[in-house]
Amino acid sequence: MVVLLATSHTDEVELWRRLLEKRLPGVELRIYPAIGEPSDIEVALAWKAPHGLLATLPQLRMVCSLGMGVDHLLDDPTLPSGVVIARLVDSNMVEQMSEYALYGVLHFHRRFDVYERFQSEHRWQELPLPHTAARRVGVMGLGEIGADCARKIRSLGFPVSGWSRTPKSLPGIQCHTGKEGLNAFLADVEILLLLLPLTERTAGIIDARALGRMPHGSYLVNLARGGLVVESALLDALERDHLAGALLDVTAVEPLPPDHPLWTHPRVKITPHIAGLTNPLTAIEPIARNIERLMAKQPVTHAVDRERGY
Ligand code: NAP
Ligand code: GLV
Repeated sequence: MVVLLATSHTDEVELWRRLLEKRLPGVELRIYPAIGEPSDIEVALAWKAPHGLLATLPQLRMVCSLGMGVDHLLDDPTLPSGVVIARLVDSNMVEQMSEYALYGVLHFHRRFDVYERFQSEHRWQELPLPHTAARRVGVMGLGEIGADCARKIRSLGFPVSGWSRTPKSLPGIQCHTGKEGLNAFLADVEILLLLLPLTERTAGIIDARALGRMPHGSYLVNLARGGLVVESALLDALERDHLAGALLDVTAVEPLPPDHPLWTHPRVKITPHIAGLTNPLTAIEPIARNIERLMAKQPVTHAVDRERGY
């Protein structure tokens, strides 16, 4: 079996080669752009591969996303239709994402955003301490990452609500579903965490109307995809003090252009899409298992439903 690696993280390619060829002896890894004979390749491991590349591989059977999100694959209009797409689900990455989410919640809950400003002014001033049990955190998307975040935030004593496409029952979490459940979900969420995939249905879901449904003085933490948020509406909500702050790991355009107003907004904190980083040392196992399943003609795990978009 010949596997092609096409990733924008070029510093890791030799590590991938060592890990894959050790875990699956007999499998040959080729590294884009050194494809060789295109018809040799049956599996591609991809992260932000150039659009059009996968369509040039006539024997391609499976694409494994090197990230948990698959929007970087599904937005390629030439993506071959009969090919299985498997997304990465790595428990190590889920833990990283939950750490980031917990940081975001505690940062705003304990007013570190304000204390950072006070420090820059050399100002020693105490603020009232908010009551954890009275501050509702909302998690939009209750999948692999969202469910883990919701459980961990709940364990700290916060009331937690969640929102998903299909109904969920998670211990201690108030679960809302679908369009009809969205307004009720947003109405009392003081810290909103975005953990939705970017799809046709979720693009721009956090718009002026959704932000307007959130209570005055609430906070946004986006660690999923920038395209979920209408950034002009977010800036407007911050300007009007409707939203008290935002922590953004992702933005509509990445890297965020140097002159973008989000960089300098006093109540916005930016990180460069680092909430969860694919680690080949842990990601190799779920990927190798899916290649084994494909070779054994068994169904692969975490196959993407193209119709649903995730
Ligand atoms: P997942 O397991 O596929 O879960 C997605 C969740 O979103 C599910 O609960 C799903 O509902 C819900 N959902 C999808 N479309 C919806 C809609 N139209 N309305 C309501 N709910 C909807 O995904 P995951 O593994 O948790 O990952 C979530 C996202 O995190 C990824 O897609 C990726 O974009 C992002 N991510 C970011 C980073 C980073 O470093 N910033 C790292 C990893 C992942 P159902 O449960 O009903 O299907
Ligand atoms: C990162 O953003 C991922 O989708 O894994």
